[in-house]
Amino acid sequence: EKIVLAYSGGLDTSITIPWLKENYDSEIIAVCVDVGQVEDWEEVEKKALLSGASKFYCPHAADEFAKEYIFPAVSAHAKYQGTYLLGTALARPLIAKKLVEIAHLENAVAICHGCTGKGNDQVRFEMGIAAFDSEIKVIAPWRQWDIKSREDAIDYAIQKGIPITSTKEKIYSEDENLMHISHEGGDIESPANFVNYESVLKITNALENTPDEAEFVSITFEKGLAVAVNGLKMEPSEVLSTLNHLSGKHGIGVLDWIEDRAIGMKSRGIYETPGGALLMEAHARLESLTLTKETIKLKQMISTEYAELVYNGQWYSQANLAIKAFMDKTQECVNGEVQLKLYKGNMLPYSVTSPNQLFDEDVSGFGEDDLFSHHDARGYINVMTLPTKIQQRKGMI
Ligand code: ARG
Ligand code: SIN
Repeated sequence: EKIVLAYSGGLDTSITIPWLKENYDSEIIAVCVDVGQVEDWEEVEKKALLSGASKFYCPHAADEFAKEYIFPAVSAHAKYQGTYLLGTALARPLIAKKLVEIAHLENAVAICHGCTGKGNDQVRFEMGIAAFDSEIKVIAPWRQWDIKSREDAIDYAIQKGIPITSTKEKIYSEDENLMHISHEGGDIESPANFVNYESVLKITNALENTPDEAEFVSITFEKGLAVAVNGLKMEPSEVLSTLNHLSGKHGIGVLDWIEDRAIGMKSRGIYETPGGALLMEAHARLESLTLTKETIKLKQMISTEYAELVYNGQWYSQANLAIKAFMDKTQECVNGEVQLKLYKGNMLPYSVTSPNQLFDEDVSGFGEDDLFSHHDARGYINVMTLPTKIQQRKGMI
C-alpha cells in the first residue's frame, strides 16, 4: 500500500516518514508542492529519500498559485480580521489539490499531512482533499502520536537518524510561498515577548536597514489583474516575485499580530507579505478611482466574509464560486496604472490614471459645469435637513 505525504522538508514532515512506515507498513510517496518558496529542490528530494520515502514529487505550481489563488484574493482585498493577507490559507487548497492528483496517479490509499491538531492547516488540507476525493483516508500523525512539542519532534528525529535543520534554540514554525512567509512558535508565541525583527525576517528588511532613498514603482492593471511592473509585461508569479523584492527592500508588509484560529485559540505570529501588500494597496487605489461607492461598499462587505471563508479552508465551495463571479464582474473596469512611492515601510500614493476613471475634473472641480451646478444642492439640503429641523422644533435633540 502507498501513502502520499505532504512533505515540506521541515521537521514535522520529516519525522512523519519513519513514523508512517512503522505504524502503517506502507510505501511513502513524498510530495512537496512548489508554491514559490525559495528551496533547493534537489536537497528536499534528497532529504525525503534519506528519511525513507520511496519516491518524491515536486509539482511546480507557482504560476497557478499566483493566477488562480493569490490574484483573486488581492482583487477582493481579502484580509482576515481586517489584517492578515492569508498567505498560508491561500496555498493550502492548491497543495491539497495536487496531493489528491498524485494520490490518484499512484493509487495511494491515504494522504498524510504533518499539521498539528491545534492549527488551521489541518482544516484547510482536509477541506481541500475532501473537495477532490470525499472517500480517501487522511492520516494526521499529530492527532495520534505521543510527540507533544517541537522539542519532542527534534528528539524523535535524532533518534531515527533524520537530518534536521531546526535546533532547539531556533525553533520557529515557518511557512513560505510566493505570497508570504509566516513565523510562529518559539519566542514569538507569547505576545508579551519583544521579538527582534532583524533576526526573524527573511525577505523584508527591518526598518532600521531600509534605504534612505525613496523608490517609485508603477503597476499596470487590466481587469483588476496586474500585468506589468514599471512598464515591463509580466506573468502573475513574476509580478509577485518582483514586488516581493522591491517592497521587501523598503520594509513593507510586515505584520505582527494576534489572530483567532479556526480552532478557537489565540495565536501570535509575524508575517512578511511585501509584494502582496503592495499589490493590494495599488489595486485599492485604482478601485477608488474606477468603482462606484455602492460597488466599493458591497465589495467591502463581501470581502470580510470571503476572508473568513478562505481562512477557514472553504476555498472549494459554492459560496466561494459565487463570490468569485461577483468579484470578477466588479473588475471589468479596473484598468489603469498606479504609481506608489516606497519609503521606510510606507506605500505612499503618487499617481493613478485610468481610462475608466469616474473622477471628472469638470464635475468635481470648483467651477460650473453642465451636469451639476452649486444651486442644484439646495433642494437636496432642504430634504436632508427637514427631519433635523422638526426634531429641533420639538425639543427632541
Ligand atoms: N497562522 C497562519 C494561518 O493560519 C499561518 C500558518 C502557518 N502554517 C504553518 N504550517 N507554519 O494562516
Ligand atoms: C500547525 O499547527 O500545523 C501550523 C499552524 C496552523 O496550522 O495554524
